[in-house]
Amino acid sequence: MNKIQVALLGLGTVGKGVYHHLHTHQRIIERELGVSIEIAVIVVKHPEKHHDFAGEAILTSNFQVVLDNPKIAIVFEAIIGKEPAFTYLTKSIQAGKHVITANKEMFAYHGNELVKLANANHVRVGYEATTAGGIPIIQTLKQLFQVNQIRKITGILNGTSNYILTEMRENRLSLDEALQQAQYLGYAEEDPTNDIEGYDAFYKLMILCQLLYDRQPEWTSVKRRGISAITLEDILAQYSQGKRIKHLASVEIIDNQIEASVEPVALASNHPLFAIEGVDNAIVLEGDIVGKVTLSGPGAGSFPTASAMIEDLAIIIRSLKGSNEASRLIESASN
Ligand SMILES: NC(=O)c1ccc[n+]([C@@H]2O[C@H](COP(=O)([O-])OP(=O)(O)OC[C@H]3O[C@@H](n4cnc5c(N)ncnc54)[C@H](OP(=O)(O)O)[C@@H]3O)[C@@H](O)[C@H]2O)c1
Repeated sequence: MNKIQVALLGLGTVGKGVYHHLHTHQRIIERELGVSIEIAVIVVKHPEKHHDFAGEAILTSNFQVVLDNPKIAIVFEAIIGKEPAFTYLTKSIQAGKHVITANKEMFAYHGNELVKLANANHVRVGYEATTAGGIPIIQTLKQLFQVNQIRKITGILNGTSNYILTEMRENRLSLDEALQQAQYLGYAEEDPTNDIEGYDAFYKLMILCQLLYDRQPEWTSVKRRGISAITLEDILAQYSQGKRIKHLASVEIIDNQIEASVEPVALASNHPLFAIEGVDNAIVLEGDIVGKVTLSGPGAGSFPTASAMIEDLAIIIRSLKGSNEASRLIESASN
């Protein structure tokens, strides 16, 4: 069996999910893709925390180890924030490595640059995991809607906010109580700013804008409101009229301008996102031929995010089949 070596940057919630499923699904990967995957290097910030987990891989905080190994063909990135993630992926691409990222903040800022750099270096960038977790929205837009003009997208893109709003309504909780519950269950970070102030949904929306329209709106022109000012009274007032408050990220083209917003909106029961509850995400696409299509599913978490990254891996490996590059990467890895 031929072998491809990969590196994993980050071994937290997402990185562990990738590590775990590359092992549990090894046989399926071998059968479907004709190669085995070896995790050669894992880069973390504090290696001393992880010795029990890393198995045979080299565990290090030194990213140079990845660059110094020409047999590493694909780099998974699941670390936090713009840097050093952007620098690591830039260097990986320049070294001829394909990259797969879950890092929405970094990708909202730098995705376009990375994709251009990857094209120039004849490698690929997988970023399905950056947006809506396990829902295959990126590949759906890239591969399955090539002729339809997507006029509008409306999504629940932040599972933490959706969970908090659902809990407030169902169990008559204050925002603070529901947030504490979300933190207790691991759905919200200790610092919940990115989720409850709308930044997380905003980054995902900008990634979708870039993919759909090949540009992003001026960030300061986008209305970005989170759920932090929503009270139980607001929710119950809407509920008494049969409505639910949902945190929506929307984008559409109006008069050739991108109109985007991220904000809480009261939805009537006939809206396709009305019934999306808890940590789930969902996206309504409006194509000019097909009409409205709704995709829903787990928007975050270790396994759904790992699922998106491993499917990106499969796409990259299939794209290599029969190419000169495949023999370079696969043969060199098996030497
Ligand atoms: N959690 C989710 O459900 C989810 C869903 C979609 C996308 N994402 C994105 O995926 C990424 C990872 O999220 P996560 O939840 O897995 O985070 P996490 O649990 O906090 O893990 C982050 C990992 O990154 C490592 N790391 C941090 N800074 C680093 C540095 N400078 N150099 C090397 N490694 C570094 C940490 O190392 P140590 O362990 O040594 O500290 C840790 O292993 C984020 O960009 C996040 O936005 C997360």
